[in-house]
Amino acid sequence: MSKKSPAIELRDISKHFGKVAAIKDVSLTVNSGEILSVLGENGSGKTTLMNMISGIYYPDNGQILIDGKEVVIRSPKDAFDYNIGMIHQHFKLIDVFSATENIVLGIDDEKFDLKEAKNKIIKTCERYGFSVDPDKKIYQMSVSEKQSVEIVKVLYRGANILILDEPTAVLTPQETKRLFSVLKNMRDDGKTVIIITHKLHEVLELSDRVCVVRKGEYIGTVHTADANESMLTEMMVGKKILLNIDRTDPSNTEERLSVKKINCKSRDGRNILSDISFTAKSGEILGIAGISGSGQRELLEAIAGLQKIDSGEILYNNPKTKQSDNLRDKTPLQIRELGVRLSFVPEDRLGMGLVASMDITDNMMLRSYKKGKSVFLKKKEPRNLAERIIKELEVVTPSAATPVRRLSGGNVQKVLVGREIASSPTVLMAAYPVRGLDINSSYIIYNLLNQQKASGVAVIFVGEDLDVLVELCDRIMVISSGQIAGILDGRTASKEEIGLLMTKKSEGDAI
Ligand SMILES: Nc1ncnc2c1ncn2[C@@H]1O[C@H](COP(=O)(O)OP(=O)(O)OP(=O)(O)O)[C@@H](O)[C@H]1O
Ligand SMILES: [Mg+2]
Repeated sequence: MSKKSPAIELRDISKHFGKVAAIKDVSLTVNSGEILSVLGENGSGKTTLMNMISGIYYPDNGQILIDGKEVVIRSPKDAFDYNIGMIHQHFKLIDVFSATENIVLGIDDEKFDLKEAKNKIIKTCERYGFSVDPDKKIYQMSVSEKQSVEIVKVLYRGANILILDEPTAVLTPQETKRLFSVLKNMRDDGKTVIIITHKLHEVLELSDRVCVVRKGEYIGTVHTADANESMLTEMMVGKKILLNIDRTDPSNTEERLSVKKINCKSRDGRNILSDISFTAKSGEILGIAGISGSGQRELLEAIAGLQKIDSGEILYNNPKTKQSDNLRDKTPLQIRELGVRLSFVPEDRLGMGLVASMDITDNMMLRSYKKGKSVFLKKKEPRNLAERIIKELEVVTPSAATPVRRLSGGNVQKVLVGREIASSPTVLMAAYPVRGLDINSSYIIYNLLNQQKASGVAVIFVGEDLDVLVELCDRIMVISSGQIAGILDGRTASKEEIGLLMTKKSEGDAI
């Protein structure tokens, strides 16, 4: 490997938030023309560290050097002046503006010419292999297109150092592949790319070096070529951990949900779900696999009463009353109270059913303690629940009284998923529960789902990782274009088989 020059150097950087030491004396060198992954558990300080390079936070102490010279970065604008651009997890684009308008927004240039800007955008896209339509409005774009606009925006302003915070958490495998090819092109063009990701196979596939942080401290940087998954996990967690999913045989299975010929249409009359029929049983995990946007979300929302159904029925066999209720006749709140719970982690994790300014305890009360009684007098239960979730899911937080907005992205999510799991459901629908979670926390969630199964809950798990689906689920239902492409036995299904069914095209394609 040729010797590369340092693009950015951090020396003894620290950052506290009140009593929380988010980053402690971190020193790190990133070279030009390299892709560096930053790896660490949820709450270990990755975003905080990068925010100090991009001017969102100012370090308590330490130095930052760009091309060997010490610099002071007090704002994102300062960062831009040093050609540093960061792509955050939550995009900052204006929905009603086009890609071009968003990209040039805020640039002070008297000789500004929209046509010239558009040409420059097209050239940038061609150079690195993006596909961005300069005239398309943001609200018409997929998550991946929006992300491309954010990246082009920083490149347009001349960024040489690009920082991406968990860019793949919301992308499909195909979109991730495309993003990686763009990032490699940028690296080959001499740019510096720093990427935060929790997915170890992505680290190994993409980066030249990996830097690991743990509890705010710098652990080390290794060449990716010399690294493997178990070594990186050990560096992250500080000890050897066993990552396995213990799949037991289903026991005491009873049909809990019986979905019969569900059909849903979108507002413009397209079929979103066509003739979906399946059962979900107590004491088993039913996996749902499919390319993102194939109807998974609508299906779960239909069961939860949040999606209008045009025909078909959803029977819930109530274990308490031994009666069968048609969930179509019920409101979302009634369905929840029957014990049918949905935890959906959307692409935009901010808008996911938590109130950021409220503390963890109060967020518990939002869902579980709505029923009559005096909400304010009974804070003990939700507080105990909050404490339990913090302990079981290893949520990094000073206390249950900490506002959710002060938690790191992954820890916010643990609170959200934990709340539904802890609500003693009879049917637990968990969609993408490990999006943005570190590897250890992901396995804690898988094992919690297994515990739910063992205690007789009918678990429905929508996941993206096929390796996990075949290890965790008893049965796997594959959805393609709003239809069931097949239901497989989780113990014998192969990833290839599932992959083929996922892309199966059927007559009168729905989406
Ligand atoms: N604005 C803030 N106010 C108070 N505490 C904060 C703030 N931002 C971050 N923290 C705390 O600093 C620590 C590091 O958080 P950070 O967001 O950097 O973690 P992370 O490594 O990016 O985690 P994740 O993988 O979950 O995104 C956490 O304990 C977090 O609660
Ligand atoms: Mg983060």
